[in-house]
Amino acid sequence: MSQEIKDRFKQFVAPTYGRFPITLDRGEGAYVWDTDGKRYLDLGGGIAVNCLGHSHPEISQVLAEQSSRLMHCTNFYHFDGQAQLAENLTKRLGQGRVFFCNSGAESSEVMLKLSRRFGQAEGRFEIITADNSFHGRTMAGVSASGQKKLKDGFAPLLDGFTHVPFNDLDAVRAAITPATVAVMIEGVQGEGGIRPVSAEYLFGLRALCDERNLLLLWDGVQCGHFRTGSFQSFQAILGDRIGDFLPDAVGMAKSLGGGFPMGAVWIAEKHADVLGPGTHGSTFGGNPLACAVANKILEIIDRDGLAANANALGQFFINELAKLREKYPEAIREVRGHGLMIGIEMGGDFDSFDDGKPAAVQWVSALHEAGMLTIPAGSSVVRFLPPLNLTQEEAQAGLALFEQTIQKVIA
Ligand SMILES: Cc1ncc(COP(=O)(O)O)c(C=O)c1O
Repeated sequence: MSQEIKDRFKQFVAPTYGRFPITLDRGEGAYVWDTDGKRYLDLGGGIAVNCLGHSHPEISQVLAEQSSRLMHCTNFYHFDGQAQLAENLTKRLGQGRVFFCNSGAESSEVMLKLSRRFGQAEGRFEIITADNSFHGRTMAGVSASGQKKLKDGFAPLLDGFTHVPFNDLDAVRAAITPATVAVMIEGVQGEGGIRPVSAEYLFGLRALCDERNLLLLWDGVQCGHFRTGSFQSFQAILGDRIGDFLPDAVGMAKSLGGGFPMGAVWIAEKHADVLGPGTHGSTFGGNPLACAVANKILEIIDRDGLAANANALGQFFINELAKLREKYPEAIREVRGHGLMIGIEMGGDFDSFDDGKPAAVQWVSALHEAGMLTIPAGSSVVRFLPPLNLTQEEAQAGLALFEQTIQKVIA
């Protein structure tokens, strides 16, 4: 069965992904099963998407109910679910308006179009982003992203992007030209290997953007939606010192729909009219099914205290992983993270890793064998992006599988 499905993938599915040899069949909570019945603890969360785990009964129910009521509603009309979600998201950020789309790349697209329009009258269009950043795979997304490998073979890219070292305020200041209109960052770089910005950098960036009339664009696609223990990662990073800090726009996707494809961008009220009628649109953006699911997810996260759970379990993971690092320094080089967004920099110099693949992929494959899903980043980072409702027992089970795998690999 599993081989037959893989063969059909090979023949019929576009080969854009390097897929692992796993064929999944079903999931429940933090676990998934493959077509041969093998169970995996899913600490990858579908790359920070399955915020309530798999097959959450209340999400399945709300989807079924909404689908028998109103499945699609063009954005020519109004409906309650979208208004409710926009209000709910806005309350967690500040006065502003929400544009709904279908993915993270589309949320980046909205912020980039917002910037172009914002700077149009003065001929400003340049946007500064960080080295190693990731903002999606559309032409605008790869143009914005600070990773060469994403751009290879796609020239000419969109004009006007400058990449600067991450977390370096002087580098941003030096890159500003009379044509600069915005700075775009992830609060915790995800694909770049789980690297958080510092509070000082954020305060400095906000002041610099205000001084030079630049938009501060926040890509919260991976680090948002309570993954860091707060709704958006700048709230976690700044904590009590947050004051009135707010970006000018915040992009969201992934956990927003918990597995139902959706994206959104919150735009600060003072820029709410920059993208006026007719300037942007989406057939499916803010679809009734997506909004019903997203509203239910927010309700469950609040009701079940999952932000606090992400905080507590994140701290538990970091502490336990630090102990494993002391025990196995050749296997674990560094542990980084915020809440349930954890990156483990792994060593790669082992006899069993001799097939030329990056260490990150080799470790993730070894963890598959042990019965655990994680996500590689870059050449040597293993990411944990588990559901926000993970239990302490599941976290412990994951750590035990991780240690067993380390012992096996380094033996
Ligand atoms: C920070 C960030 N922005 C944008 C994207 C693109 O999202 P999508 O794959 O939904 O287009 C991702 C995806 O990993 C991401 O991590």
